[in-house]
Amino acid sequence: MNKKILVTGGAGYIGTHTCIALHAAGYDIVVYDNLSNSSREAINRVSILIGQPIDFIEGDIRDAESLRQAFVDHRFFGVIHFAGLKAVGESVTKPLLYYNNNVSGTITLLEVMRQYNVKNLIFSSSATVYGDPKFLPIDESSSRSCTNPYGQSKLTVEHILEDLAVSDESWNLIPLRYFNPVGAHPSGQIGEDPNDIPNNLMPYISQVAVGKLPKLSIFGNDYPTIDGTGVRDFIHVTDLAQGHVAALDYLKQQTSIEEHGSDEKSSDKKNSIGFLPINLGTGKGTSVLELVAAFSKVSEQNIPYHFVSRRAGDIASCYASADKAKDMLKWRAKLSITDMCQDTWRWQSMNPNGYDGSI
Ligand code: NAD
Ligand code: UFG
Repeated sequence: MNKKILVTGGAGYIGTHTCIALHAAGYDIVVYDNLSNSSREAINRVSILIGQPIDFIEGDIRDAESLRQAFVDHRFFGVIHFAGLKAVGESVTKPLLYYNNNVSGTITLLEVMRQYNVKNLIFSSSATVYGDPKFLPIDESSSRSCTNPYGQSKLTVEHILEDLAVSDESWNLIPLRYFNPVGAHPSGQIGEDPNDIPNNLMPYISQVAVGKLPKLSIFGNDYPTIDGTGVRDFIHVTDLAQGHVAALDYLKQQTSIEEHGSDEKSSDKKNSIGFLPINLGTGKGTSVLELVAAFSKVSEQNIPYHFVSRRAGDIASCYASADKAKDMLKWRAKLSITDMCQDTWRWQSMNPNGYDGSI
């Protein structure tokens, strides 16, 4: 049975953790990454953690020739597509870069996949596609809208995947809508390594705790939430990684039922996956102040903070309905906020400068 998976963006934060989970589940992986937001050191560390060298191709998803070569050299069962740019603020100042990388890059990937008849895809989507949600918890049928180019690029790719599934039912396309991934591998060897001053809450808190940044600015304390600060569904990155394995196992199981059952009832289309969006979240909301308190307790560090005005584009509360993932993928997040803080702290204190100049 073919268990070879192309992992685009596999050198990044979520990609590295997912490579470890895929390897542990018996999948063979080939990482394809242009290293625009990651490093060879991350790949080296994954190799050490899994005890064997990683099959790594340095390449850009917008480079069709380089992608084709990967499909000539390997026979893939499917693709997990993490490659993309993810900074909301930067996407506002560089929209063409974001649409080119995230949308055009994905179209190029899909064209090459079609050419080599590899039609199984798991795509990194985001809870950002729900915009300001009308209901909580957010389920997959909630309406979608985005206000920034990063979010638009994710939503546009989702629309492309939907159209593709309608045009040809042999595609199996699962966008996983991540809520707020945080945490690190329990070894402390891999984790999130922001290039600059972090935009996101957890890496900001951990850099304050380790003394790299003086204090946290909390964006708003007048939201209609438990303590006035924003509420999010933080999910441990290793749980998230496991969610990808569950999605792939589901896809494999469904498509093999289809293969074996095809001569019995050829008109029965129930095993065709088509376009199947699934939330990956815990279903539980945590406020900014609650996360700061949990991190402070775990790290035994004081985390100075002050309140500033709301950040443009932020919403009050966002947390997932995790029922579809539980019902269909038999997956649920297991790790707690304490685990998330503990593992982030271990990674941050063992690697105060991320993958650069590691100690
Ligand atoms: P990351 O930046 O750590 O990883 C993305 C990887 O893709 C990097 O290694 C980068 O070098 C690579 N890459 C970017 N453009 C590429 C291109 N054109 N060709 C080849 N490789 C390219 O980000 P992450 O946090 O691991 O996120 C992975 C995916 O999940 C992204 O698509 C992101 O938008 C999505 N996502 C992330 C979050 C989050 O909070 N981290 C939330 C929702 C969705
Ligand atoms: N926050 C602060 N101070 C900071 C950073 C964040 O108070 O320095 C607050 C925000 O206002 C928000 C909460 O912490 O209330 C979480 O903010 P993040 O930036 O960590 O996460 P977001 O929910 O805003 O967005 C993230 C990713 C998006 C993704 C979205 C949903 O940045 O790309 O989760 O997955 F789309």
